[in-house]
Amino acid sequence: MTITIKDSSEIEAMRKAGRLAAEVLDYIGPFVKPGVTTGELDRLCHEYMVQVQKTIPAPLNYAPPGYQPYPKSICTSVNHQVCHGIPGEKVLKNGDIVNLDITVIADGFHGDTSRMFAVGEASIAARRLCEITYECMWLGIEQVKPDATLGDIGHVIQRHAESHGFSVVREFCGHGIGRRFHEEPQILHYGRPGTGEKLRPGMIFTIEPMINAGRREIKELGDGWTIVTKDRSLSAQWEHTVLVTEAGFEVLTVSAGAPARPQLYTKAA
Ligand code: MF3
Ligand code: CO
Ligand code: CO
Repeated sequence: MTITIKDSSEIEAMRKAGRLAAEVLDYIGPFVKPGVTTGELDRLCHEYMVQVQKTIPAPLNYAPPGYQPYPKSICTSVNHQVCHGIPGEKVLKNGDIVNLDITVIADGFHGDTSRMFAVGEASIAARRLCEITYECMWLGIEQVKPDATLGDIGHVIQRHAESHGFSVVREFCGHGIGRRFHEEPQILHYGRPGTGEKLRPGMIFTIEPMINAGRREIKELGDGWTIVTKDRSLSAQWEHTVLVTEAGFEVLTVSAGAPARPQLYTKAA
């Protein structure tokens, strides 16, 4: 297990990469409307990253062991798609929910963040899933402080999701991040308090729960990337990149348009 501890200059670079990734989401939000294709959202984000920000879209041609190179610059996961949806001809329609996942490389460092968007007017059930998943991510983030454990993070996420009758995807997880897209450790979104690696100041990782309205089982589509729920139930995901500080945590993927931190204490399970 080699978890990298970032020094102050690396942390500064990660703040910049995180902000830039979040700013791509701020930019693309107004384009998420009925009638747009996921391919068009990808094209717009690609142009913004490359031409305006001068960042590199990390997904493009990303090829972890056992995968074919990812063909696009962002991930667009619609409705029952869990993650890694490949942008293309799919036309977004009123009532869809879509996760847009952005990873940029700036000055050699990665910033990774995703948000849910409702296309037009989504159902109450769909909005509820997105909202609870957002709370799951934040409950996980609020566990982050020196000497807390990875199991503490997973536990609160799992408890919150399951208390609302939802399920947690097990096959994909958060991850350390820095000069590399996916570093150690793995951040599971389920688990037991007090188990797993202890957090230390200078660690940077993502928290990115994938929560299903139905059963937790998933399958991969023939494109080699897109993950969907086996029962075709809706799935939602939010992602932030987080630094462990002496005092607790700092969210690195912040921007002017990032949604507010939820008021959790009133509805904690
Ligand atoms: N951004 C995703 C994550 O949060 C990874 C996408 S890999 C890709 O870890 F190749 F599909 F882009
Ligand atoms: Co990630
Ligand atoms: Co991501």
